[in-house]
Amino acid sequence: MIPITKPSLDISDLRYIKNVIKSKILTDGYYQKKTEALIKKLIKSKFVSLTQSCTAALEISSILINLKKGDEVIMPSYGFVSVANSVVLRNAKPVFAEIDPKTLNISYDDIKRKITKKTKAIYVIHYAGHSCEIEKIANLAKKKRIYLIEDAAHSFLAKYKNKFLGTIGDIGVFSFHETKNLVGGQAGCISINNVSLIERTNTILDKGTDRKKFLNNFKKKIISSQKKGFYSWVDIGSEYRASELTSALLYSQVKKVKKIQKKREKFWNKYKDYINKFKNDMFYLIKPIKNCISAYHLFVLVFKSLKKSNEFKKVMQKNGIAATFHYVPLHKSKMGKRFCNYKLPVTERIYNRVVRLPLFSDITDKEFNKILNSLKKFLIN
Ligand SMILES: Cc1ncc(COP(=O)(O)O)c(C=O)c1O
Repeated sequence: MIPITKPSLDISDLRYIKNVIKSKILTDGYYQKKTEALIKKLIKSKFVSLTQSCTAALEISSILINLKKGDEVIMPSYGFVSVANSVVLRNAKPVFAEIDPKTLNISYDDIKRKITKKTKAIYVIHYAGHSCEIEKIANLAKKKRIYLIEDAAHSFLAKYKNKFLGTIGDIGVFSFHETKNLVGGQAGCISINNVSLIERTNTILDKGTDRKKFLNNFKKKIISSQKKGFYSWVDIGSEYRASELTSALLYSQVKKVKKIQKKREKFWNKYKDYINKFKNDMFYLIKPIKNCISAYHLFVLVFKSLKKSNEFKKVMQKNGIAATFHYVPLHKSKMGKRFCNYKLPVTERIYNRVVRLPLFSDITDKEFNKILNSLKKFLIN
């Protein structure tokens, strides 16, 4: 079976991992700092910290903005469960918004409709590697004095009007999970744009302690540090930082990012050009909006009929090609229903007609041609 995704790993990734093993430093080490600095520079961020996952980074974000009982947080229902969990874990209420059917990104108009006096934050997701209407949403959030958090799990190095996604709102989060464009094993990253939040981030990342001040750089210096003889519990937090092995793998991946991204873009465009050769009224393609440079994370089709989408998935899978659905709307889930008794007609109509096709940088020509041939057969039948 040709999978939906496969990490872009090779023997060159071993070099940095070996260095970690040799150093015997597995936390707070050289690669954690080096990778953070590299990403900070690449995305032009004010602050970057590696985390164990994007889920961890989302949890940090909801602590940072002091979410509490009575607060409302707007987010897309067509999205990832970790966004909702980060809000619910702080006893705040998720308010689920609609998507724009053309992009499957959160609907600006629905955000506007759902803002109340209780709205404390908006969480957007830049779905499939493409930007949501971030400029309009950022202006709205600013005007209403609401925090804006960008979930850029799919969108590392994607841009909107020359700004990197994840660096436009107050906070941005990224995923380097096995399924993402770059992998660190299970890994993530938080980028802070609102400078008033930076100092506390380190505390939350360090289990709620002021350890960062004490641990003035790398681990070896603890022993010789004369500045402060102890660190202690000053806030809430958890063990959110990425390990050295994870950081080293991610370092290797970030070094190769241009090559990886180029290949993804090439396959994405090949798919698009191929599909455009056919007269097709069965489905449409999810594309980047104007002024967006995509991270080309997913290749997504939206079928006009549920029957056709199921037929398509079946045929592709029979041919050994993973063609799969994506998110089940959060507001329709067992947990989501606790917070939501309203309908989201666009999301409900679309979610089960979404089909993703394989997209990864190491897809072979043979595999790609097999997918295109299966697509063609379906389109001309
Ligand atoms: C939009 C979105 N946000 C967050 C996450 C969570 O990422 P992680 O697995 O790194 O915690 C995912 C995972 O796929 C995702 O799709």
